[in-house]
Amino acid sequence: MNDYTSGMYTQALDLPDPSQRALQPVSPRADAHTAELQSRFDARIDAQGKIEPQDWMPEAYRKTLVRQISQHAHSEIVGMLPEGNWISRAPSLKRKAILLAKVQDEGGHGLYLYSAAETLGTSRDQMLDALHSGKAKYSSIFNYPTLTWADVGVIGWLVDGAAIMNQVPICRCSYGPYARAMIRICKEESFHQRQGFESLMTLMKGTPAQREMVQDAVNRWWWPVLAMFGPPDADSPNSAQGMRWGIKRISNDELRQKFVDATVPQAQILGVTLPDPELQWNEERQQHAFGAIDWDDFWAVVNGNGPCNKERLATRVKAHEDGRWVREAALAHARKQRSRAMKEAA
Ligand SMILES: [Fe+2]
Ligand SMILES: [Fe+2]
Repeated sequence: MNDYTSGMYTQALDLPDPSQRALQPVSPRADAHTAELQSRFDARIDAQGKIEPQDWMPEAYRKTLVRQISQHAHSEIVGMLPEGNWISRAPSLKRKAILLAKVQDEGGHGLYLYSAAETLGTSRDQMLDALHSGKAKYSSIFNYPTLTWADVGVIGWLVDGAAIMNQVPICRCSYGPYARAMIRICKEESFHQRQGFESLMTLMKGTPAQREMVQDAVNRWWWPVLAMFGPPDADSPNSAQGMRWGIKRISNDELRQKFVDATVPQAQILGVTLPDPELQWNEERQQHAFGAIDWDDFWAVVNGNGPCNKERLATRVKAHEDGRWVREAALAHARKQRSRAMKEAA
């Protein structure tokens, strides 16, 4: 199983999954028991019911979710870095307060998602180790640089906009804790998208240099954002399993199309040109046709060769190391509280 069950935020190398190995021989009784559990699980999925942490689930379902949710969590916290770079340089107190709130939201999204993944039997330390050692992936979009203040607006408008398109269907995911985390996250993503659009609108009403800055940022981000939805459906053979399990609801190509159709009118309102000469309304299909995505560039970034992969990982590892004393102090405090409570109870 590769990692394109949800496209964005969960891109990873297409490594063979140990859960796909042939099952070991088991006794006929254990076999019958597993078959019974499996059929109950399937029935729940078919009835659009939720699977909860205490429920039996196939090992491959569990592993797929752990990988998807943890990669999503990693994307949230690595996603704090490109915009975090601009907090000290925001052009006004108002913009600084908005950006601080947004970056803090992304940290919160990471925390909900790590908690959701922990309900599947993995620990936060394991997940963070995988991220920091480079084994786990996060969304390739965060490996591009934020060169100007307009990039911050464009990330809100396009990257958070694409995130909403991708994540709203996950609110209906079959795994309860993931679905519930997504409901809250999507509400906050709407604020992120709107603040980005509003910030760009302000720049577009400014000087010619400000308008040029916005156009330049749009030119650089447009294609990587389209690639965020993951490879074309024809190259995502395992998406079908994600659909069967109720983890993935809408295919990569469909989501990408919905995003383009929603974004074109917004670009017109802003007064920016989307950098695709082939982008045009197709009357027959009642949707926009658009040019070919450079998948070689996408794969280069996923495989660690984007403009900022090394910088992002190094910053993340340093943040974790710098926070070590806080974690140790919190644990020591908790131990002290516990022993005090035990002494009082005795
Ligand atoms: Fe987020
Ligand atoms: Fe966001």
